[in-house]
Formats: sequence, structure tokens, C-alpha cells
Amino acid sequence: VVGLATARQWAGERQGVDVAERGSYGLRPLAVLAGSAHASVLKAMSILGMGRQVLTPVATLPGRQAVDAHAMGSALRALGGAPAIVVASAGDVNTGDFDDLAALADLCEAHGAWLHVDGAFGLFAACDPARAGWLAGLDRADSVATDAHKWLNVPYDAGVVFTRHLALQEKVFRAVAAYLGAGPDLLHRTPENSRRFRALPSWMTLMAYGRDGCTAVVQQCCALASDLGDRIQRSAHLELLAPVRLNIVCFALRRGGSAERDRLLATLLDGGVVRLTPTVLHGRPALRAAFSNWRTTPADVDRIWAALERTAAERPS
Ligand SMILES: Cc1ncc(COP(=O)(O)O)c(C=O)c1O
Repeated sequence: VVGLATARQWAGERQGVDVAERGSYGLRPLAVLAGSAHASVLKAMSILGMGRQVLTPVATLPGRQAVDAHAMGSALRALGGAPAIVVASAGDVNTGDFDDLAALADLCEAHGAWLHVDGAFGLFAACDPARAGWLAGLDRADSVATDAHKWLNVPYDAGVVFTRHLALQEKVFRAVAAYLGAGPDLLHRTPENSRRFRALPSWMTLMAYGRDGCTAVVQQCCALASDLGDRIQRSAHLELLAPVRLNIVCFALRRGGSAERDRLLATLLDGGVVRLTPTVLHGRPALRAAFSNWRTTPADVDRIWAALERTAAERPS
């Protein structure tokens, strides 16, 4: 919400309208383009009155969730210079895939578009030297969002937004009242006025564990995901749907559609060992296992695998 609202302020000002003061009436619809936008992007578009259906889905690379940069270039060209937001994924929710941020930053620069990067999971890949390269170009984004309640393991809800357009952001979120003051208080930068001190657990976690601690959690989660992915690849009942790049394993039953997938999920949940979430990948009903907890160990993967393989094998044929 913060990233897109700030982008809309920027788009309004390009057309000579201060949206925070006058609203967006009469402005050209603001195009939003993405390869694999998370549900929260659509929700933000709805909240902001931009409209979910305004999102233009752009083709992804074959077999991938990463956007096809050539297709993005064509989509931007087709707008003929109209203001646009490109929403990039750094770690998509289904497979942990990364858009080519440097290529998207080049395109946004060439076409005068705003680059927002959704790095809810993927921003933390920066801790891991083997994966940090996927974030090349991040420093050229106009806004970036991430979650401390994922890989930093702090309680919900600890969303973080970075922007290089703080003045625009403050125009949008300023709360005007003498008693609130006009200083650099966060109440002038986000939707909330009264807010609890949710930065504290994030700060303390960073101070307690530091870069090395974060790196260890990221590497451990990715290794566990990769282990589960390897086992699924060898399974007679399950099929891995995407390479395990990050911490997410996306897979499906070799036989059966969404009803069988949902029964499998329910049986696993009843078993009390593992909770997986459903998804759809390239039109196929699928399951996803996302590793982010610092306490998950290789022994847990053994338990997950035993429950999963047994439940998948026991399904009536
Ligand atoms: C890729 C991605 N983007 C955005 C979000 C939104 O997260 P939240 O609503 O927890 O801030 C998530 C959460 O799963 C996500 O995986």
C-alpha cells in the first residue's frame, strides 16, 4: 500500500496534480504491470482505488515465475509514455523465483516508469553470498517492500518499506493536526497514526543475531527446502513443479486434481505433523512448503517427508 500510494502521488505530479490534496479524479488510469504479482499487490490496488483489474499481467519466462523482460519492454512501449508502475518479484510466493531487477530497472529508466520491488521473502537472500546476485539492480528501485515476520522470525505484523521518494511518501501519509506535530515521526509516513513499537523486536533480532545470524537462517531454510525438493523429485507419487531456488518447494500429486490435493492437505493437517498450503502453478493444483522458521531442522524434514510420502501413497487409486 505504501509503495503504490507513493507511486500514485508521483504519477499525479507528473500530470500536474497533487493526488494527496485533490484526489485522482480526471487522471489517466495508472498502469500497473507485473509478471507474478502477490495477492497483496492486488489488495493494495483495491484499497487505493486503482482497481484490481487495472493490473496488466506480463508473460513470464517459460516454466518460470520470473517476468519476461522483453515482454515487459513491449508492454511499457505500448503505453506510449503514460505513467506506469512495474511491480517486480524478488522471491515469488509460489516458487521463490526472482525477476531480473537490473533489466527491469533499465526498462523503467528508459520508459519513465516507477519500479516497486516485492521482496517479502527474497530481500533476505542478500545475506547469502550464493544468492545475493539475484538482487542486482535492487538499489535502483523506487520502492521496496519486505517482511521482518518472515525470515527475521519476529511476530506478525512487521512489514517494512523502503523508498527513495520520502518527500512524496510524506505528502501522502501526512496527518495534519497541531498536536501531532510535523516532524519526522513515522505517523507521517504510513497509513497508521497510533502504532505500537513493532520495530523493537526486529531491531533486537538484528542486534542479537546480526548479519551472520540472518545468513545462517536463510542458508538453513534454503538447504532444508532443497532437501525436500530432492526427495519429491525421486517420489513415485509427487512431482516437483519448479526448481527449488530459495526456501519454497512447489509440487503436485502426479495423479489427481484439486479435490485430491485438498484431501491430501486435510489428511496431513489431521495428522498434526505438517501444514502445507495449496496453490496453483501454471494452471495446475499444487502444494507449497515454505521454510522460514529458525528452529526447523533436517530432522523436521524427515518427519515432513515421512508424513507426506505415506499420505500420498495411501490415497485410493
Ligand atoms: C511474495 C510475497 N509478497 C507479499 C507478501 C505479503 O505479506 P504480508 O501480508 O505478510 O506482509 C507475501 C506473504 O506471503 C509474499 O510471500
